[in-house]
Amino acid sequence: MTQTTIAVLVGSIRSDSVNRKLAEVLRDQAADDVSIQIIDGLGEVPFYNQDVDNATDLPAAAARLREQVAGADRVLAVTPEYNGRMPAVLSNAIDWLSRPYGAGALVGKPFGVIGATPTPYGGKWAHADAVRSAGIAGATVVEDVTVSQSALEVDVLTDPEVLARLGRAVQVLAEYDRESAAA
Ligand SMILES: Cc1cc2nc3c(=O)[nH]c(=O)nc-3n(C[C@H](O)[C@H](O)[C@H](O)COP(=O)(O)O)c2cc1C
Repeated sequence: MTQTTIAVLVGSIRSDSVNRKLAEVLRDQAADDVSIQIIDGLGEVPFYNQDVDNATDLPAAAARLREQVAGADRVLAVTPEYNGRMPAVLSNAIDWLSRPYGAGALVGKPFGVIGATPTPYGGKWAHADAVRSAGIAGATVVEDVTVSQSALEVDVLTDPEVLARLGRAVQVLAEYDRESAAA
């Protein structure tokens, strides 16, 4: 069986993160031919700095992030929203993944973003922000895989409808076919 690997960037590094737990639930319920790999350690990746973005000085955490994403078939951000945009930890990861210019680990990778916040909007500005930024960094944004889930009146970690909707988004990303999408 050929497996499609999805690297997941979680936009919250707090220990009790709903979005982190959501990523874990989606990993555990994914189809057998979809391998979801949550990338740990985003909080240890230093702020992007061009001075150290070279073969000699590249921080180990940034190198690891690049390798993990380069080795995946797809990239999914699972993120809350901070002050109407994506959290800095996710923005920083995208910056590292956007370089070298034109050849970063995100270039040409099908990319989606989902997440939940306890507001009626579910983090939609953060998700639009991540889509715009990843697209500029060279990712192939899969528009159908942008799901902003309100966690106001529902437990997103257990609600069957929410998990089915988010699970479908993961499946669409896994099955995304560049060639037929371009035709
Ligand atoms: C600094 C900060 C800014 C926030 N700004 C927003 C916001 O603009 N929109 C929103 O929907 N929620 C906002 N929130 C609430 C988060 O969505 C909420 O805390 C969420 O549970 C965080 O996700 P997590 O559980 O995965 O850590 C903010 C929270 C923090 C700490």
